[in-house]
Amino acid sequence: MKFDTPAGQNPIDRLRVVGCPTDRIDGKYKTTGTAAYAYERHDVADHQAYGYVLGATIPKGRVRAVDTAAAKAAAGVIAVVTTLDVPKLGLGTMNYASLFGGDRIQHYHQAVAVVVAETFEQARAASFLVRIDYAPEAGRFDLAAEAPHAPPAKADSGEGSGADGAERVGDFEGAFAQAPVQLDATYTTSDESHAMMEPHATIAAWDGDRLTLWTSNQMIAWAKGSIAKILGIPKQNVRVDSPYIGGGFGGKLFVRADAVLAALAAKAAGRPVKVALTRPLVANNTTHRPATIQRVRIGATRDGTITAIAHESVSGNVPGGVPETAVDQTKLLYAGANRLTALRLAELDLPEGNAMRAPGEAPGMLALEVAMDEMASMLGIDPVEFRIRNDTQVDPNQPDRPFSHRDLVGCLRLGAERFGWAARNPAPGQARDGQWLVGMGVAAGFRNNLVMKSAARVRLDAAGTVTVETDMTDIGTGSYTIIAQTAAEMMGVPLDRVVVRLGDSDHPAAAGSGGQWGANSATAGVYAACTKLREAVAQRLGINSADADFAGGEVRAGNLSVPLAQAAQAGELVAEDAMEYGDLAKRQQQSTFAGHFVEVGVDVDTAEVRVRRMLAVCAAGRILNPKSARSQVIGGMTMGVGAALMEKLSVDKKRGFFVNHDLAGYEVPVHADIPHQEVIFLDEVDPTSSPMKAKGVGELGLCGVGAAVANAITHATGIRVRDFPLTLDKLL
Ligand code: MOS
Repeated sequence: MKFDTPAGQNPIDRLRVVGCPTDRIDGKYKTTGTAAYAYERHDVADHQAYGYVLGATIPKGRVRAVDTAAAKAAAGVIAVVTTLDVPKLGLGTMNYASLFGGDRIQHYHQAVAVVVAETFEQARAASFLVRIDYAPEAGRFDLAAEAPHAPPAKADSGEGSGADGAERVGDFEGAFAQAPVQLDATYTTSDESHAMMEPHATIAAWDGDRLTLWTSNQMIAWAKGSIAKILGIPKQNVRVDSPYIGGGFGGKLFVRADAVLAALAAKAAGRPVKVALTRPLVANNTTHRPATIQRVRIGATRDGTITAIAHESVSGNVPGGVPETAVDQTKLLYAGANRLTALRLAELDLPEGNAMRAPGEAPGMLALEVAMDEMASMLGIDPVEFRIRNDTQVDPNQPDRPFSHRDLVGCLRLGAERFGWAARNPAPGQARDGQWLVGMGVAAGFRNNLVMKSAARVRLDAAGTVTVETDMTDIGTGSYTIIAQTAAEMMGVPLDRVVVRLGDSDHPAAAGSGGQWGANSATAGVYAACTKLREAVAQRLGINSADADFAGGEVRAGNLSVPLAQAAQAGELVAEDAMEYGDLAKRQQQSTFAGHFVEVGVDVDTAEVRVRRMLAVCAAGRILNPKSARSQVIGGMTMGVGAALMEKLSVDKKRGFFVNHDLAGYEVPVHADIPHQEVIFLDEVDPTSSPMKAKGVGELGLCGVGAAVANAITHATGIRVRDFPLTLDKLL
C-alpha cells in the first residue's frame, strides 16, 4: 500500500481500541521475570557453551602475536578464536569501526579474542591466560585539541552548502553584524553511554551452513543483512530472533561484536555459544553518543525578532565515522531570514561514536535552547514569549514547504499555564525555599518525524483469533501493545483475540525501532496488512469490502451480520502487505514539538541540584496509547535530567578510553533524582504521517529537557554554565 496523500477517514478513527491507555501486553512477563532476554534463552538450543570476549588493552596499534596455549589447556575450554585467526571482517549497516578480525586495533576494547568453555566462569578464567603481544601507536583522544583543525563534515546532501561545508540561507554574517542584540556562545556536551539494562548479548547456533542468532537488536532486517555481509554467507541462511529487548537507545540499532563473535565461536566450538558483553565492553567496545563543541550565534532586534541564527558543531569519531548532527533542529525550529549551520568532524582514536536516542537533537537542543534562554534574558523578554515570537509555520529554508502540523506555540502556552509560569519572578536568584535557591526553566522540544516502509502479515483462524507477524521489535516501548490495538481496531475484535509475534527475521520486515519512527510506521504496516485481510474476509463472505463494517467480532453489511471467525471456517486467511511512502514527507515538514518546564532547587551551600517538578506538553499527532506514550516521554525526561546533571563518559586522554565504564562510575538518574513528572499530549492528529495519523514521542521526550534544567539552574542562581553535565563543582 502506497501512502502519498493525507489520510482521510478510516477504521482507526473509530478509536475503540487505538487511543486507549491499554496496559503493556508484555508488562506481566517483564515484571515477573518470565520474559526471556537473549542470554536467558536456555530452551532454544541444547548444549549451549559460554563465550567470553576479550577487548584490546591498547587504543591504537597492531596485534603482533597471540599465545592461546595456556588458555586452550585450561579447564573446560572448548575453543579460542582470536582476531589473527580471521581476516579483517567487513562492516554491517551503520558500523564504522571494525568489529573483529585482522591485526589492526582501531580503539580500546576492540574485540581481540573469544574464549569458549563449558561454563561462564571457566571461559572468563581462561581468558586471563591469553597472552597478546601488541605494537601500540600514538592516538588522538582529545576532542578539544583536535577541534581547531577538524575539517567540514557533510551531514546530508548539504544543499546550498559552500566550500566550508556550511549551509546558508540569506547573509548570516552581514545580518548578525548589524543586529542590535547579539549572542555568541559556545557550549560543550559530553560523550554519553546508552547504559541500557540488558547488555548486548547473543546465542548463536549453526545447522550446517544455516545460522540462527537469538539476540538483542532494534533493527532485525538490518541485523540479518549485516551478519550475512560480515560473515560472507547468503542472507537467506541467517535467522535473527529478538522478541524481548531490555533497552537499546540506539546502541542496538546495528550488529555488534557479541553477534559476530557468538557466530564465529559457535562455528569453532561445533555447538551453540552464548556471548554477553561485560559492562566495560558495553562502554568501550560498542558505541556511544559523541561529545560536541557547539557555537551558537543569534542576532535579534530589540523587540525580540531573530534576524540571524547560526549553529556550528564539531564532534569526533573513528576514521570513516559520522558526525553528531547537532545543528539539524536549528534549520527548522525558529524563524529568521539569515541562517548558517555547519558540522565539522575530527578523527579520534576513541571507540566509535554513533546514534543514541535522538542523535543530533539531544545534544543540539542542549546548546540551542540554552542560547535562546540567554538571548531572551539579554533582550529582557520572557523566554516563553521569545520562543513564541519566533515561531514559524514553514521550513525557514524553503518557505513554500509548510510544516504538516506544528503547534509548538500551543505546547508553550498550555505548559506555562499549567506550570504556574506567571508566578515566576524574571530576575534570577530571588526565590528561596529554606536551604534551596529555587528556579524555573523552559525549553522547546523538537524532533523530526520520519516514516519508514514497514510490512506485516496477519492471519485469521477458525477460532476468530487474529495473529500479527512482523519483525518489528519492542525495546520496552510498547510495540506489542499498539500493534495489537491496531489489529483489533481494524478487524473489529477485542484485544484478547489478537496475538502479536515480533522480532523474528522470518516475519515480514518492519520499520524497526529507531529514530522514533517505530510506533507510527510499524502500526501503519499492520494497517496495510489488515486492509488486505478485510478484503479477503469480505471476498470469502461474498460481500463488498467497501460496505463491510468490522465490529464486535462480526462483519456487518446491510442486513448481514456474520461472526468474523466464519470467514476462516474453510481455512485460515492470511494477508501480507507493507506501507510505503511517496514524497509527501518531503513536500511537508513533519516534526514533533514539546514545551518542557522544569523547577529546580540548588543548595545554597553545596550547589547540589535537585529537580523539583517537571512538565512536558507534547504535540505529536495522534497518541496511539496514552499510557505507553507517557512512559516514553517520562523516560525521555529522565534521560534529559541525566544529560543535564550527571551523564559523562570520562576520557583518559593519555591511554585513550572511557574510564567510568560501568554503572557504578557512569552516573544516570535513579528514582531519588526524579521528582513529580507530568505529561500532557495536545489532542491532535497529523493526516500526513500515515493512516494512523500518529507521530513519534520516544525521542521527543528527551529533546530540550536538559536545557530546561540548565535554564532553571540559571534562574535559581544567576550562574550560567555552558559545559554539560552541570555538575555541582561548576556552580561553586
Ligand atoms: Mo534510536 S538512537 O534511532 O534507537
